[in-house]
Amino acid sequence: MKDRIDQLKTELDALMAVTQEEVEHLRLKYLSKKGLVSVLFDDFKTVPAEKKREVGQLLNELKNKAQQKIDDLKLQFDQHAETTATGMDLTRPADDLDPGTRHPLSIVRNRIIEIFGRIGYTVADGPEIEDDWHNFSALNFTPDHPARDMQDTFFIARDPDILLRTHTSSVQIRTMESTKPPIRMIFPGRVFRNEAISARAHCIFHQVEGLYIDKNVSFVDLKQTLMYFAKEMFGEQTQIRLRPSYFPFTEPSGEMDVSCLICGGSGCNICKHTGWVEILGCGMVDPNALENCGIDSKIYTGFAFGMGIERITMLKYQIKDLRLFFENDVRFLNQFTGAF
Ligand code: DAH
Repeated sequence: MKDRIDQLKTELDALMAVTQEEVEHLRLKYLSKKGLVSVLFDDFKTVPAEKKREVGQLLNELKNKAQQKIDDLKLQFDQHAETTATGMDLTRPADDLDPGTRHPLSIVRNRIIEIFGRIGYTVADGPEIEDDWHNFSALNFTPDHPARDMQDTFFIARDPDILLRTHTSSVQIRTMESTKPPIRMIFPGRVFRNEAISARAHCIFHQVEGLYIDKNVSFVDLKQTLMYFAKEMFGEQTQIRLRPSYFPFTEPSGEMDVSCLICGGSGCNICKHTGWVEILGCGMVDPNALENCGIDSKIYTGFAFGMGIERITMLKYQIKDLRLFFENDVRFLNQFTGAF
C-alpha cells in the first residue's frame, strides 16, 4: 500500500494537461469514486490496525496532493481564456515594461554631445581622481596663485599631490599631452568642490569642457562656435554676450551669458533682472598651457570653454533647486519621461 501511494505521488508530480478536457479526464482518473486515489481508500479497510494511523496519514496527503494538482492545472485555463496548444495565450497584451526615464542631467549632457558632434567634436573622458599637475599646474596655476582658492579642492590627507578634480579642464591637459593637433574634442564629466550643499551649490556637479587646437584658430572661431551652441541648445532667438574674465589657462578669457530664456531679456528673478544668465567660461588657450603639453605655441593656437551641466539644465527646464538632481525623487524624475 505504501509503495502504491509513493508511486501515485510521483505520477502526480509529472501530470500535465494541454486542454481543459484533459484536466477533467485526469480529475476523473484520480479523484472520482472509482478513481485511483479513491480506490486506495476502499483498500484502507484491509490495512492492519497497528498501521492504520500511519497509512491513513499518507493517504490523506496523497488525496490533498491530487486535489491541489488538479486545481493548479485548472487555474491555468481559467486565467487564459484563449490558449494555444502549449498553454500560452499569445493574444494577451504584453506585461507593461517600465523602462524608467533618463536623468535630466544625462538628457542635457547627451544633447550637448550631439550639438558639438554635428560640428566635428568627438568625446573623451579623464580620471576623477587627479594630480596637481593636470588639475592646476599644467593649466598655468602657479603654486601660490589665488585662483586655486576659488576652487575649494578636496585633497587627500596622505598625499597633497592627489585631489578630486575641481573641473574638467584637467582633461584638456591629458588630451594635449597624448594627442597631436588638430584637436576638436569635448570632455563631459563629474567634478568635486568642497561646498556646502544648498539650492545653488553642491559638492558634486557636472561640467562639459571643449577644446579646439589647430593652426590659425582665432577668437572669432570661439565666438561663432559658442553662438551656434547657444542657439541649438536654447533656441534660435537666443542672444549671447561675452564679458572679459580671468582664468590662468586662457588668454584672453571670457564668460558667456545667454539672453534669459524665462523673460526673453526684459528682466526676472532667474536673471536677477539683468536679462542675461551666465553659462560658461572660455578663452584662447594660454601659450604656457600648450607648451606644458609639448605643443608648439608658435604654430598652434586654440580655444577652450567649460560649462556646468546643472546650470544649463536648470535654465532649460526651469528647475529652481540643485538638490533635486541628487535626491532620486521619482516625482521629479518622472517628469522627464519621453525626453532623451
Ligand atoms: N574650468 C573653469 C571652471 O571650472 C571653467 C573654464 C573656463 C573652462 C575657461 C575653460 C575655459 O575651458 O577656457 O571654473
